[in-house]
Amino acid sequence: MSDLNIYVLGAGIVGLTTALELKRDLRNASITVIADDFYENTTSYVAAGIFRPTSGDFGKSEEITRKWIIDSFSYWELLRLSSESSEAGVKEISGYIFSSEHPHIVRNKYLEKLVPVYRKATEEEMGLCLGDWKYGSYFSTILTDTAKYLKWAEKKIHMSNVPIRHEKIRAFSEISGECDVIVNCTGLGSKFLCNDSSLTAIRGQVSKVEAPWIKHFFYGDYDTYIIPGFDNVTLGGCRQYESYDKKFSQYDYLSMRERCEKMLPSLRDAKLIGHRVGLRPHRIPVRVEMEEKIANGRKLKIVHNYGHGGYGVTTCPGTSINAVQLVRRALTEKSKL
Ligand code: BEZ
Repeated sequence: MSDLNIYVLGAGIVGLTTALELKRDLRNASITVIADDFYENTTSYVAAGIFRPTSGDFGKSEEITRKWIIDSFSYWELLRLSSESSEAGVKEISGYIFSSEHPHIVRNKYLEKLVPVYRKATEEEMGLCLGDWKYGSYFSTILTDTAKYLKWAEKKIHMSNVPIRHEKIRAFSEISGECDVIVNCTGLGSKFLCNDSSLTAIRGQVSKVEAPWIKHFFYGDYDTYIIPGFDNVTLGGCRQYESYDKKFSQYDYLSMRERCEKMLPSLRDAKLIGHRVGLRPHRIPVRVEMEEKIANGRKLKIVHNYGHGGYGVTTCPGTSINAVQLVRRALTEKSKL
């Protein structure tokens, strides 16, 4: 039996990845995952899952952002090369980003130095999609089918004897019993749990279609993207700032379908499979830090890991590794390590 008790709140991609990283690093710790929303009710399930960070800094500095991105890419690359890659839903993918507006849209200071291929699209390639494209890039990266990954991660967690409790936590003080550190991976839930007014929702909606002839991803201006996955193709998207509406919108569907079909007319023949709506937990910077709180006379150590916006897949292994370091530091201060 271990005398180290760690609670991870949240079972989206950030919570599950953090729990796995904690178990890997602190083998003898007793870790428990507590969450209210699982699998299809998480934002992670909606995400298209492509490894593509924004060019802006979403950590406290460029150095921190770069470290998160490099650690994340290594994590996905290792998983991609492992025998578990297909069960975990991780594969390599390549494709194009085009813009009719600005050259900076098709550049990415982080990806250019990290992925195996990142180059200017040729004149011929610029004609692959209909549109008045002036700028284009081709690159290879990693795609994670989040539905597969969430299932795989939950299975690994069960196999590591880490219990997963279905419970809604409204305040950190509700966690009863011995508790050395709480790791908060509740995404948008932190808006209320932490009273964090800098956290806001950016609503997104995607559609899944059957189009097995599409082998590359395509990004166009204004949040238009076509991303082939394992079993279907994701069409997107939209970014609605401060919208908390989780209902499907026919208007958004028709708009994104029209934009995608304009780029690739063959999509007119693609059978619709379904729609997904999610609220991206947006916060700049993403919060990865330790906080000490006195709650009901109890001193709690909380390591936060939330606010990944639409970049949870791209950054969560890196921020989770960072969160585990903070847990270690918190335990050292408690003389538990
Ligand atoms: C997206 O990848 O476009 C997305 C991510 C999270 C929620 C909705 C959409």
